[in-house]
Amino acid sequence: MKRVVIFASGSGSNAENLIKFFHNSDTASVIQVLTNNPHAKVLDRCKKLNVSALSFNRIAFSKSEDVLNILKAAQPDIIVLAGFLWKFPEFILKEFNNKVINIHPALLPKHGGKGMFGMNVHNAVVHNKETETGITIHYVNENYDEGAVIFQAKCSVLPTDSVEDVAEKIHLLEMEHFPLIVNKLLK
Ligand code: GRF
Repeated sequence: MKRVVIFASGSGSNAENLIKFFHNSDTASVIQVLTNNPHAKVLDRCKKLNVSALSFNRIAFSKSEDVLNILKAAQPDIIVLAGFLWKFPEFILKEFNNKVINIHPALLPKHGGKGMFGMNVHNAVVHNKETETGITIHYVNENYDEGAVIFQAKCSVLPTDSVEDVAEKIHLLEMEHFPLIVNKLLK
């Protein structure tokens, strides 16, 4: 069985979707969820789903090797960032070369970079009067939202769509595609 570790900072609907998908899989399972936010809803989801979860602070993450050592012990085949808001340290990326992926709720290189997360992204899409948006699954490198693209899926944006409408469309695309792409990468 392949081993999936997820990093999340907030609600964790993608983390939950991945956990449920791999509950019924012979290929892989989600063995651990890590968060920088001790109040994140993802921790409640993990409790309900019986998945090990830990929270950490900046010292553990990037000023020491504590999180690195947790990852080394977990021996993940893939590290999935699902709504994780801190920049990944280079020394961790180096250890897990080409094994760290992220999902971004827009069609990169559009609407990426620092500060572009959650509703900020959908706000920018509506504000710019885009006619389409989508999701991007990509490898993580030392810059925000700049690693090689693995997969994109698109949806239309209607002139009448509110920011919330766009968020809902993106959510559906994420639920549909993210587990399938992670599964494909593991095979
Ligand atoms: C998703 O839209 C994801 O693309 C982005 O952050 C959001 C996380 O949502 N990176 P959730 O915590 O999985 O519900």
